[in-house]
Amino acid sequence: MTNANLIFRPRRLRSTPALRSLVRETTLSRQDLVYPLFALDGPEGVRREIGSMPGVFQLSVDELRREAESAANAGVPAVLLFGLPESKDELATTAYADNGVVQRAVRALKADNPDLLVITDVCLCEYMSHGHCGIVRDGYVVNDESLDLLARTALSHAAAGADIVAPSDMMDGRVGALRAALDSQGYTETPIMAYSVKYTSAMYGPFREAADSAPKFGDRKSYQMDPANRREALRELDLDIAEGADMVMVKPALYFLDIVREVRNATDLPVVVYNVSGEYSMVKAAAANGWIDEKSTVLEILTSMKRAGADIILTYHAKDVAGWLE
Ligand code: PBG
Ligand code: ZN
Repeated sequence: MTNANLIFRPRRLRSTPALRSLVRETTLSRQDLVYPLFALDGPEGVRREIGSMPGVFQLSVDELRREAESAANAGVPAVLLFGLPESKDELATTAYADNGVVQRAVRALKADNPDLLVITDVCLCEYMSHGHCGIVRDGYVVNDESLDLLARTALSHAAAGADIVAPSDMMDGRVGALRAALDSQGYTETPIMAYSVKYTSAMYGPFREAADSAPKFGDRKSYQMDPANRREALRELDLDIAEGADMVMVKPALYFLDIVREVRNATDLPVVVYNVSGEYSMVKAAAANGWIDEKSTVLEILTSMKRAGADIILTYHAKDVAGWLE
């Protein structure tokens, strides 16, 4: 029996793939993706898989070049580099060394393919013996002295040819410190992708294995944000914009899509989200057990990030997704 009184039938626009595609509000494309990579200092030919992140590797620079090339061939426009140095100390000396692993990797990747965007994560935790993101004094991560080392790190990345620098430390004033340092040396055109709204999160666990950057004592709660806070996100956003951020990031992504929408509504700058390690590991583990379908799950998750307001997605799935979207 037909109900002729039913005027509104939303299903009319869902009946065929062509109709659904015509009215689709959000699209995910390869141009949106950034692929994080872990550059390992030391001998060549090393490709070490992260136990908690199947498909993600610590890569010696020669292997990193191959991986970046295959991602670029799949249509990924950008990579984000993290470094695993051969030595660590209390001043993160290897973070801003001219021949540091990230600096070498940037030079190699830009020489191989000038069109592939190379973004560098700017932080100190991978290079500090204690694993914190700044200088530690009496058990506390001190702010202002850490800025100097962060600025030196960003400058050395820019000098190596990085297209974009991305500070992830959460010290107060780092965007301004980086901008001043870059400008003073003539890098006025190097953009800053600021990890503006970065919460402390259980979802960083697998990354700390990948980057060997777990703090040796305590936690990061005195500098990363409390996940319970929403208004504070807008405060951090305003500060980074005032200090000269060119793009702003929300991290983690998946449980923070309400914050992504807040940030989207509050700024016209490009909004970046970081689909972090734990979010990746959960999908990979469930998929490996046959509990969920990996491809449709990943596409749904990343589409939701776009729908929430993200322009750019940093994701370990980037190379796979680029292949699926072909
Ligand atoms: C380092 C840094 C972290 C991540 C990106 N940069 C870890 C942390 O803050 O402890 C997390 C990325 C991920 O989990 O995928 N400052
Ligand atoms: Zn850090």
